[in-house]
Amino acid sequence: MALLKTSYLGMELKNPFIAGASSLTSQRDTAKRLEDTGAAALVTPSLFEEQIQLESFVLEEEIHRFDNLYAEMTDLFPEIKHSGPEAHLRMVADLASSLEIPVIASLNAVQPETWVHYAGLLAETGAKALELNFYATPTDPSRSGKDIEQEQLAILRKIKEKVALPLSVKLSPFYTNPLHVIRSMEEAGADGFVLFNRFFEPLIDPQKERNLIRHTLSGSNDNGITLRFTGLIGGESKGDICASSGIMTGLDAASMILAGASCVQVVSTLYKNPVGNMAGLIEELESWMETKGYPDLYSFRGKLSAKNNPDRWAYRRAQYVKMLMDPAGVIKTYPSN
Ligand SMILES: Cc1cc2nc3c(=O)[nH]c(=O)nc-3n(C[C@H](O)[C@H](O)[C@H](O)COP(=O)(O)O)c2cc1C
Repeated sequence: MALLKTSYLGMELKNPFIAGASSLTSQRDTAKRLEDTGAAALVTPSLFEEQIQLESFVLEEEIHRFDNLYAEMTDLFPEIKHSGPEAHLRMVADLASSLEIPVIASLNAVQPETWVHYAGLLAETGAKALELNFYATPTDPSRSGKDIEQEQLAILRKIKEKVALPLSVKLSPFYTNPLHVIRSMEEAGADGFVLFNRFFEPLIDPQKERNLIRHTLSGSNDNGITLRFTGLIGGESKGDICASSGIMTGLDAASMILAGASCVQVVSTLYKNPVGNMAGLIEELESWMETKGYPDLYSFRGKLSAKNNPDRWAYRRAQYVKMLMDPAGVIKTYPSN
């Protein structure tokens, strides 16, 4: 039997499959099912400062809605306040104590001080590592990409100083040069990287002229950017690379490991298939390794990274250029419908 062991953020994992942050990993019963069907680790949903701010705001509004009508109400009732991150911290602590696999706590804050404060609180829950989810949609055109990166680096350094747990950074693919960001974050203390997050995107119903929520789950066609940057950085970075987005099958995982990933995170495939499908992913990878004669993960990890790839153009624009030079070939491959 092939050995699936790997390591991530200094932790030994029994296989490379991690259940990524989602609502599936916030509930004890689904988390337990993920553990029972083979998940090697689990990332909790992010503690979102924005959500706490929003909930506190709504609660304040509710409490004070009738203040003007019934003045006595302002004195009659004791002051009620939102409990802040308490409920989330309890959820993480509960998972960390009830599961045997390592629990990684994810954080997405807004203010630099809150990033550090919440990271400290999460570190006390029993989680084995922290995943910093640095994504925020830029809405201010006066801030440059460099400003945003510098702020993220400063936050990372401060968290590193305060928290002894290993740190991974879950990156957005929308940096001008993710490779430079990875190197700078490594220097600032990141122990690993999750490449990449995938975000909810807006949607407009043109008939009703209103915005809708687009609930998009990934498919295997959505892992191209992840594969490109995993291949480009694989074997070159000191930090572990955990591939994420569009990893739907055991063979997708094999591709990421061939490109240089240490492990993978899966989410959409667990929504599209029963949670128990985790076992199927593991079996598929294992059976591919056996067919190929690989005794363990290390015997093929990074075999097709840019560094080791016999095709030096594999992760660059060569395919696109090839298509431009051979339009007939493209038409044959993709006949119009
Ligand atoms: C319902 C749902 C909830 C999610 N919640 C979080 C979250 O709290 N924090 C986070 O970093 N990513 C979150 N994600 C993103 C996933 O962790 C993952 O990065 C993304 O879905 C891409 O992986 P996939 O292609 O395997 O789905 C969520 C995704 C889904 C579908």
